[in-house]
Amino acid sequence: MKYIYIQTWGCQMNEYDSSMIISLLEKNNEYLVTKNIEKAHILILNTCSIREKAQEKVFHQLGRWKKLKNNNPDIIIAVGGCVATQEGKQIFERANYVDIVFGTQTLHRLPKMISEVKKNRKPKIDINFPKLEKFNYFLKPKKKGFTASISIMEGCNKYCSFCVVPYTRGNEISRPCDDVLFEISILAKQGVREINLLGQNVNAYQGPTFNKKICYFSELIRLVSEIEGIDRIRFTTSNPLEFTDDIIEVYRDTPKLVSFLHLPVQSGSNKILKLMKRSYTTKDYQYIVEKLISARPDIQISSDFIVGFPGESEIDFQKTISFIKKINFDMSFSFIYSNRPGTLASTLKDETHLEEKKTRLYFLQNLINIQTMMWSRKMFGSTQSVLVEGLSNADTMELYGRTENNRIVTFVGTHDMIGQFVNVKINEVHAYRLKGTSF
Ligand code: SAH
Ligand code: F3S
Repeated sequence: MKYIYIQTWGCQMNEYDSSMIISLLEKNNEYLVTKNIEKAHILILNTCSIREKAQEKVFHQLGRWKKLKNNNPDIIIAVGGCVATQEGKQIFERANYVDIVFGTQTLHRLPKMISEVKKNRKPKIDINFPKLEKFNYFLKPKKKGFTASISIMEGCNKYCSFCVVPYTRGNEISRPCDDVLFEISILAKQGVREINLLGQNVNAYQGPTFNKKICYFSELIRLVSEIEGIDRIRFTTSNPLEFTDDIIEVYRDTPKLVSFLHLPVQSGSNKILKLMKRSYTTKDYQYIVEKLISARPDIQISSDFIVGFPGESEIDFQKTISFIKKINFDMSFSFIYSNRPGTLASTLKDETHLEEKKTRLYFLQNLINIQTMMWSRKMFGSTQSVLVEGLSNADTMELYGRTENNRIVTFVGTHDMIGQFVNVKINEVHAYRLKGTSF
């Protein structure tokens, strides 16, 4: 038996891809995943290039792996994901001890590439974009917990001016609707209760159906909600562009869809949104939120923000702050703008000092944390439906699970609650963590 060690950075798509790589490599009982890198014969790095820091981490990590390879030259090092797709051959130039470079759309070819390297010890590279081919090779999904993620589409066509994703994951392409439903039903039969539909832009989903029609995202959610055993549906990530009324209607009539939506706005300044090429205004965004609230009054919205985008003035930043107050977001992710080579924004003049950007980020995150805490406080005394994921403390029989808005809740319960939805009355609140009593 040979051991593989896999390190994954980045988004949920990368996590999903890595789980598929593992299942493909373990398929013939030739390889087994290990958490102990010292034992591993094959080292795989699934990389992220969304921001410069993530990209730089790759070569630092490879430098550490080089030492392992110096001690054992038989070790095979494979680099995949977004950095691999973007850098291609240059990975070998910067790290000549790497054996394999594979792309976001060619990870299913990794087992073959590994056996070829084993035979002739020649470096291999394959960063092509064979459309959806990888899904034909993925094995039937296996339950790992009571919630599962499934990729419904790949790539992105939006070309927001700051973003590398269209270059690293290719053009938007939707998986056939029946394949998605089939895989979810397999997971449901294994006991999965919550499904997270994954894609860079899930609301642009247009999956072909068996009778040559197109299944849109709203219809897909309705079809998933009809699968027996699936009682909670989430999706990541959607875009305010193409967030059409039919999707808002699903919030009205499909209770299994959570009352929580991650809808990244990025900035509260229309000038910056235009420079970002986001193709919507703050007014458009606000209008979507208003419609969502009328369809689902208890909905909570979260967002991503980029601070210090080229040309962002103090006034633009203050517009973002006002917008955050207006929408009253529940949680959010925020980042300092990172210049990515090859993107449109990389050609824009960026005159704001890094220290100023850090101050803005700090200020914005402070506000977000306050709002998150306020939302949590509102949950005090309420009854929440919690999907119980497991034991958090065996001695006290404390269980943990998540609410619809992704807060972790701990409470005292019994073993048979694991994998079930349990009503929990919240009696202690922190920003991201709650405690309660089941009944
Ligand atoms: N399709 C997804 C984008 C995924 S990238 C969406 O629209 O949400 C996740 C987040 O990373 C983005 O929302 C953005 O806030 C951030 N991001 C992407 N490129 C960035 C860059 N160059 N600098 C800083 N943050 C960036
Ligand atoms: Fe990136 Fe914009 Fe697409 S943020 S993933 S180019 S929607």
